[in-house]
Amino acid sequence: MSKEIKKIGVLTSGGDAPGMNAAIRSVVRTCAYHHIECVGIYRGYQGMIEGDFKEMGPRSVNNIVNKGGTILKSARSKEFMTPEGRKKAYDNLVAAGVNALVIIGGDGSFTGAEVFNEEYGFPVMGIPGTIDNDIFGTSHTLGYDTALNTVVEVIDKIRDTASSHNRLFFVEVMGRDAGHIALNAGIGAGAEEILIPEEDLGLDRLLESLKKSKASGKSSSIVVIAEGDKIGKNVFELKDYVEENLPEYDVRVSVLGHMQRGGAPTCYDRVLASRLGVKAVESILEGKSNFMVGVLQDKIALTPLEQAIKGKSEIDRELLRVSDIMST
Ligand code: F6P
Repeated sequence: MSKEIKKIGVLTSGGDAPGMNAAIRSVVRTCAYHHIECVGIYRGYQGMIEGDFKEMGPRSVNNIVNKGGTILKSARSKEFMTPEGRKKAYDNLVAAGVNALVIIGGDGSFTGAEVFNEEYGFPVMGIPGTIDNDIFGTSHTLGYDTALNTVVEVIDKIRDTASSHNRLFFVEVMGRDAGHIALNAGIGAGAEEILIPEEDLGLDRLLESLKKSKASGKSSSIVVIAEGDKIGKNVFELKDYVEENLPEYDVRVSVLGHMQRGGAPTCYDRVLASRLGVKAVESILEGKSNFMVGVLQDKIALTPLEQAIKGKSEIDRELLRVSDIMST
């Protein structure tokens, strides 16, 4: 165990995700288990710059394993992108006696951590927290499983009304530039077509597929569209386009939005958060730095932050085929 590490700071940064609280709890309690102090840093890097810190012990994280959002709050800090901002943050950490950081967030948050480590040699460890699942080095990011379940639950409800009115629904889901949520929730919810940024389906194929599905006797349909889809039209333009070209369809649009980021984490996300928090703290105590702690084939695995940031988290192309077959 490294001698120098006496106090670890933990923060959440970027878009919040269910499971972040369970990860904070895990970091705090693992520190307590190893007799290390722990400091919660509010509002991500912005709170680091402003010295918004709170000492945390095992009882500060009671009753949060089941809570969505993040008790430490989250932010995207422009000031931390400047050397002056990072200097202020460093001075605050030194003054508070913090000598390592656990950053729970996405690739933007990890980029900040990497730069900070380069400039000050400050030990940093990342935990992937984002509903988008767009991080290399982990099969699951925190919050992704919960978001999938939320989306499937909502689409099930949309299906009830779609089928009562014989309608076609375009459901837009989050994911930034990645199609993981759309692809997996789309299959789980029985979508007719799934449009994702990684695969350009093309408008003609979409029209063909909708025609075919009508001809095959389907009276209602759900098309799931990732917000970053590159078919070249936003979801409302797409609705107009389909109604112009296939007047037999009565189309409605549902943009699910930020509800996908809320809610109690699933059991999977809670367990994952607990495992990642333990590994993050124990890796720091072993003298490791500049890694992301993720899960690969259900084993906890460390990936250098640089690779986690630069690498691409690929979609499983076999799922596209499965989706095609399911919409027969
Ligand atoms: O990265 C998480 C995410 O929810 C994306 O899916 C979405 O594109 C973005 O954040 C929305 O960001 P904001 O909370 O700033 O609206």
